[in-house]
Amino acid sequence: MAHRRGPDTERLILRAFEPRDADAFFRLNSDARVMRYTGEPPMPSVEAARDAIVAYPDFDTHGFGRWACVLKELGEDSPPIGFCGLKFLDEVDEVDIGYRFLPAYWGRGLATESARASIEFGFVTLSLEHVCAFVLADNDGSIRVLNKLRMTRAADIMYDGQAAQRWTVTRSDWFGSSPRNGGETPSP
Ligand SMILES: CC(C)(COP(=O)(O)OP(=O)(O)OC[C@H]1O[C@@H](n2cnc3c(N)ncnc32)[C@H](O)[C@@H]1OP(=O)(O)O)[C@@H](O)C(=O)NCCC(=O)NCCS
Repeated sequence: MAHRRGPDTERLILRAFEPRDADAFFRLNSDARVMRYTGEPPMPSVEAARDAIVAYPDFDTHGFGRWACVLKELGEDSPPIGFCGLKFLDEVDEVDIGYRFLPAYWGRGLATESARASIEFGFVTLSLEHVCAFVLADNDGSIRVLNKLRMTRAADIMYDGQAAQRWTVTRSDWFGSSPRNGGETPSP
């Protein structure tokens, strides 16, 4: 099953990107402040953004992927203000949480809120055993989010010649170490 609709949070709708989001996807991925710690080059054009949305394989190949985040207060048909969600990483054979928001919306807890719901979705709906995250060592904002999610810094690594970190959270960490209802009453 392809989970093109993600979990709703208090303030956000999470859903797959659609071609009509190309302008918003370009705005997000061409902003130097957003791309600074991602290890990716800025997106060159709206056309490239549209192509990336159309060609995005994750929902068909794995059933889940990064979701567009739409701010409810702007209306459900408003352009996404960022993305958040789970991605299967072939190169390490594990599922990673990632997030990216337009700077105008930073500092409102939206990355933490959407990542928390995404990880919960991973454990409850996808029955994952753990979720990881990769972050450059100088991305203090993202590291703060990982701390707020109660993830654990598991390893210091190098990524593309830069100091980076691998963070992780297991299913039992997330739901508490004592066995509880197969994870149906979470309190992360
Ligand atoms: C990282 C990012 C997603 C955080 O989004 P956000 O919605 O502002 O995150 P939240 O509001 O949930 O939490 C951010 C926390 O980091 C803190 N923070 C932000 N920038 C910081 C910095 N430079 N140094 C230290 N703390 C910082 C905030 O104060 C907040 O903590 P608080 O709630 O204790 O005050 C956002 O900055 C972003 O899109 N960055 C560009 C893309 C990116 O780097 N993605 C992650 C790749 S691993």
